[in-house]
Amino acid sequence: MGNKNLKEAKEAKNDEFYTELSEIQAEMNNYTDKFKNKVVYCNCDDPFESNFVKYFLMNFNRLGLKELIATGYKTSPFRGTELNIMDAAYSIRITNTKKYLVGTQSDLDIKGVMYFLTTEKDKITSKLIGNYALDENKNKIQIAVKETYTNNGKEKKRTVKQDLYYEAGDFRSDMSIALLKQSDIVVTNPPFSLFREYFNQLMSYKKQFIILGNISVVTNIEFFPFIKNNMVWAGCVSGSKKYRVPENYAAENPNKVYVENGKKYAKFGNTMWFTNIDHAKRHQFLPLNLGYKYHGHEKMYPKYDNYDAIEVEEISKIPYDYTGVMGVPNSFIHKYCPEQFDIIGIPTAASNEGSLNLNKDYKTYIGYKQDGTRTGRTGSTFGACPVFERNDHKNIYYTNGKRTVQAGKCMRIFIKFKKAYISQHPELFGNTEE
Ligand SMILES: C[S@@+](CC[C@H](N)C(=O)[O-])C[C@H]1O[C@@H](n2cnc3c(N)ncnc32)[C@H](O)[C@@H]1O
Repeated sequence: MGNKNLKEAKEAKNDEFYTELSEIQAEMNNYTDKFKNKVVYCNCDDPFESNFVKYFLMNFNRLGLKELIATGYKTSPFRGTELNIMDAAYSIRITNTKKYLVGTQSDLDIKGVMYFLTTEKDKITSKLIGNYALDENKNKIQIAVKETYTNNGKEKKRTVKQDLYYEAGDFRSDMSIALLKQSDIVVTNPPFSLFREYFNQLMSYKKQFIILGNISVVTNIEFFPFIKNNMVWAGCVSGSKKYRVPENYAAENPNKVYVENGKKYAKFGNTMWFTNIDHAKRHQFLPLNLGYKYHGHEKMYPKYDNYDAIEVEEISKIPYDYTGVMGVPNSFIHKYCPEQFDIIGIPTAASNEGSLNLNKDYKTYIGYKQDGTRTGRTGSTFGACPVFERNDHKNIYYTNGKRTVQAGKCMRIFIKFKKAYISQHPELFGNTEE
């Protein structure tokens, strides 16, 4: 397998983690007034196993849903624990249910369910259909894939062209797109390996959404402009989340994996909710009464070498009196209130919107001087992340004698207090001008 293929396989394997009902309930509780008469679509969800589907079936009448649609790409590794179904992708479409779902799906009032068209004894046999991807001229789109072959007993690799085919239930398939067009709000935990494509699709069809994703996308150069322009923001519940994982799941950190009642779970601290539906928490000001102040404590907030901003190592240490630009960890996204702060950018070499053009000597990297120490242009897996060298080496790791950076720990977003907020709070900012 080529490196790319290996990476893809690893990423696809990491897609198989399943959201707990309690995590979904905690987040959805903040939007209960937003679902009335809406068509909700869970488009990466085995309808028989997904807790997203379960949540909306349990709350169908309470939320006043018009319809619930769910399509599964393939049946989950936990398949068969709920209903006796065949090994294929399925869709359900519920327009009316008099019963709340309690326990298993077999309790459901099946009259309001479409797409359960054909059954064979107790098996449901109406499958979704997949299709070839076509370009605007209706020609098949081809992709290059690596394949392994044997030549004179030796294993070799070559690149071959293949028609791009979307399996049944793939969110990119014609059928799933047709369902997407009919829906109002998309709610799911999509495959992380396809997050960018998934998100772009939601944006291009102008859908409302509440989805889970990895916090690292916040500082992705393609995703970031949507954050900066307030087209997507964090959901309400932050913090680490519990997911069910397949039996053969091996975490990098085994302490995060545990078994409960014979089921395997993992805790991930790097996933978060993303939405474009407004909620109250988003408009709560970050409390600044913790006493952190820039003036008189300048040493605590070193300036970067190559960008006019101060480094703030923790969100709770944002100084309440600084009117210039501040570099803060990407977890700021959970505290961002658009009436209090402007998001300025992220340091990248790219010219996307929101990319900060840094001093050319440093190009992609940003750093600061602290007691004579300056950042190096250390490589990082993210390529475009800010690199910090601290006296305590907190963010710097050594592997095989080479310095590497744990990028996720030092990603920075550049922010500023909003002008209106500053002028409304003379008691904080006084007349200090940066
Ligand atoms: C992170 S899991 C979450 C599953 C479910 N939404 C949940 O939260 O429990 C992502 C799911 O998307 C499925 N998937 C992968 N590629 C897909 C695609 N192209 N279209 C639809 N689903 C896909 C994976 O098999 C996996 O079951």
